[in-house]
Amino acid sequence: MGIALAGTGSKLPSKILTNDDLSKIVDTSDEWISQRTGIKQRHIVEEGENLVSLAFEAGKEALKSANVEGKDLGLIIVGTSTQDKRLPNTACELQPLLGASDCACMDVSSACSGFVYALSIAYSMMNTLDIDYALVVGGDVLSREMDWTDRTTCVLFGDGVGAAVLKKSDNEAGFLSFDIGADGSKGFALYDNSYGDDRYIRMDGQEVFKFTIRTVPHSIEKAVKRAGVHKDDIDVFLLHQANLRILEAVSKKLDIPLEKLPHNLERTGNTSAGSIPLLLDEAVKKGIAKKGDLILLCGFGAGLTWGTCVLRL
Ligand code: ACO
Repeated sequence: MGIALAGTGSKLPSKILTNDDLSKIVDTSDEWISQRTGIKQRHIVEEGENLVSLAFEAGKEALKSANVEGKDLGLIIVGTSTQDKRLPNTACELQPLLGASDCACMDVSSACSGFVYALSIAYSMMNTLDIDYALVVGGDVLSREMDWTDRTTCVLFGDGVGAAVLKKSDNEAGFLSFDIGADGSKGFALYDNSYGDDRYIRMDGQEVFKFTIRTVPHSIEKAVKRAGVHKDDIDVFLLHQANLRILEAVSKKLDIPLEKLPHNLERTGNTSAGSIPLLLDEAVKKGIAKKGDLILLCGFGAGLTWGTCVLRL
């Protein structure tokens, strides 16, 4: 028995903040943000929206597209670093809203790699605990953690949540490999010391950029090799949406056509753990990732962490 993707869903907050809007708050410009990152706008939560409300909408949509009911879930995992509250965890808050009960519920904090980390945990738990259906959510509300006077960070991020339902599979569809890792010695490059004297996200952008260019191609190569396939066999590479220049550099380094690396960061900004499931849901809805396709997901971010997986849809 394998474990396969059965359905996807996503939810972005309704309020949009454009680069021009930001240029009225901090000393920046649409030209600078577009050229350095590719981002044109991001979605930001408003009064009445939070991580749970977005995750509920994304989860509901994923269950519907998988034709699975909440009561069938044996596991809910949420990859996030921006829980609405410390206790209970986000997955526990989602459980009754989605009509699930009794199932295991946990959050995983691995920043922008959170969704792939959560997928790998769900994969293992479904096998060891004999679980038929799991809901894996990835999302963050980073706007709450932003220093809106710091132009080096606030232009990069947005809020959003994506979700996927996993099920046992007895055909060719399913996860083929994972590569998960971290380099804690580089934690200083991107952190949010909420319990200390500075409650905002701080980043050494160039250090993160260097790490990404070094680590992401290596992790992709490892996951592809473990899956027993060749990188040319992969139909779509869904990479964490941090920066268009990172996608271009990875495409060049691995000699993968840029057309195989779809992106939505121009509309969403960097939504951290929401980034990959949001893009996955969009790729499925637009027919960019189709049944039978071989796809690769790759996240990277604070920790510094990374996570890659290969699956057949
Ligand atoms: N608007 C205008 N000017 C700015 C802005 C801004 N928003 N931010 C920085 N600048 C200025 C700097 O002050 C600097 O000015 P100076 O030359 O007078 O000192 C100049 O622009 C260049 O700054 P750099 O930091 O060198 O710009 P860089 O080309 O490295 O781009 C960026 C910054 C986009 C953050 C880049 O380093 C990057 O993409 N890093 C990857 C990190 C990333 O994407 N992080 C996202 C979260 S982590 C993750 O998801 C993996």
